[in-house]
Amino acid sequence: MDSSSEIERPSVMIAGISGSLRHGSYTRMALDVAMRGAAELGATTKLLDLREYSLPFCDGESEEEDYPEGVAKLRHDVKEADGLLLATPEYHGSFSGVLKNALDLLSFDELEGKMIGLIGVAAGSMGGFSALEGLRNVGRAVHAWVVPELAAIPQVYKAFDPSGRVKDPDLEKRLKKVGRQVARFAYLHRSDHSREFMEAWEAAFPNPGA
Ligand SMILES: Cc1cc2nc3c(=O)[nH]c(=O)nc-3n(C[C@H](O)[C@H](O)[C@H](O)COP(=O)(O)O)c2cc1C
Repeated sequence: MDSSSEIERPSVMIAGISGSLRHGSYTRMALDVAMRGAAELGATTKLLDLREYSLPFCDGESEEEDYPEGVAKLRHDVKEADGLLLATPEYHGSFSGVLKNALDLLSFDELEGKMIGLIGVAAGSMGGFSALEGLRNVGRAVHAWVVPELAAIPQVYKAFDPSGRVKDPDLEKRLKKVGRQVARFAYLHRSDHSREFMEAWEAAFPNPGA
């Protein structure tokens, strides 16, 4: 096959956000593994460390210019990404306030149509499922595409060795799969071919058999 007939793949950028600010955070370790999964599929990955944005609380009324510049920077960085990996610790049966506040400071403008993968960690045996359900609802509210694959890690203090490596190869596979799925669907969503297909789909006559 000569090179002119090869399909040029659009590059996709996947950003990771951790809802734990704790030094030595397991959430962050899990996120790193999922991001490696996205990178293995060819995506560019970027960690958006919420510590670096010095975000204020969302007050529900300030305009972007009234907020400290970290808010505009976060909005810019999230908008730039084709997909997001959101990782959270389970806090009191939900996802962390740090992550909720960051999401509240964003809007449809940055989140609508975004591909999102979810990862939850918990000290308890439920593995962050309540946190993940909450985040799935947020995805629906902001019209994002939350991929079906997710990773929930119970008793997370047992899951990593001191160097941050996942002990269980199946868990490592699962975390990487979340990253890969977000990269894959972000790619399909961005691809001109799929955009053409979607336009044709939306313009099509109603299905007479439906
Ligand atoms: C405020 C707070 C609330 C927590 N609530 C829960 C909980 O409801 N269920 C649970 O299994 N673990 C709970 N934990 C434990 C955390 O999920 C666990 O320590 C996790 O490792 C924290 O993530 P990190 O290591 O990324 O900081 C809570 C921890 C904190 C600090």
